[in-house]
Amino acid sequence: MNKIAVIGSLNMDLVAVTDISPKMGETVIGKDFHMFPGGKGANQATAAARLGGSVKLFGTLGDDQHGKFLLHQLENNKVDGSSIQMRRDAPTGCAIIEICEAQNRIIVVQGANAKTDEDYLQKKINDLLEADVILISMEIPMQPIEYIIKELADHEKIIILNPAPAVPLSDELISHCTYLLPNEHEAKIIFNGKYEETEALKKYPNKLVITKGEQGVTFFNGQKMETVPAIKVNPVDSTGAGDTFAGAFSYALSEEKPLKECIQYAVIAAGLSVEKRGAQSGMPTAAEVKEYCSRAAVDD
Ligand code: RIB
Ligand code: NA
Repeated sequence: MNKIAVIGSLNMDLVAVTDISPKMGETVIGKDFHMFPGGKGANQATAAARLGGSVKLFGTLGDDQHGKFLLHQLENNKVDGSSIQMRRDAPTGCAIIEICEAQNRIIVVQGANAKTDEDYLQKKINDLLEADVILISMEIPMQPIEYIIKELADHEKIIILNPAPAVPLSDELISHCTYLLPNEHEAKIIFNGKYEETEALKKYPNKLVITKGEQGVTFFNGQKMETVPAIKVNPVDSTGAGDTFAGAFSYALSEEKPLKECIQYAVIAAGLSVEKRGAQSGMPTAAEVKEYCSRAAVDD
């Protein structure tokens, strides 16, 4: 089995569920509070591992209660966390999440994630080079991301960049990535406002894969535009749906499936994930994806 390395953040998600979203300066009474494991890196690693991938996560935790809890959660999901650094000089990252009508708003406080720097990635380079597929998200500083993508580009790895949260990306950085997975909002930002969807997709055939929630996922296959439709679900919490997509996509690539099949697989996994609360709790196993597929075949 090909190995997957995920580079990204780990957060403790503090989730408030509410029927009314507060306006600036307003206080509302919420319905529910939960603490969930989260962070785009940890979520993506968990999604890929739950489906059966061989996954190692690279990132930074604080040497505190949240950090220990998050490490334990990774173990439970069979994600290899042995390369994660635990720092005394910063607290574990955290995300303040509001869920209103199955939609979310998120504030991330990076904490220890900001210590995922070039120095750390340099030290882990041999570990990283053991992987065939490398998935990177952007809740860590940009400089080490640029460093590692350049470094890995010489080694014929499959490099997947999920530009979340988005910043404008250089042509050079994009040229080193095998796949770019933004949502529609992130796509506008990474191309620095100079953006028209069809044009961008045609410029990056079989590379730029734009996720559009209920509208499915679009890419250009070199000949024509392809849209993989989303699956029908009962949405409860969309937090981590993009991460499930990225993790499942990487897993399917590690199984050497063709691009469109990887997208189809990831669309199903991401769809199923929104039916449960929390970023990670709804992420399906391979058996659950399979079961969904046989149910869908019967319904047809
Ligand atoms: O993508 C979802 C994630 O974003 C949450 O788990 C939260 O931690 C934020 O990083
Ligand atoms: Na969910």
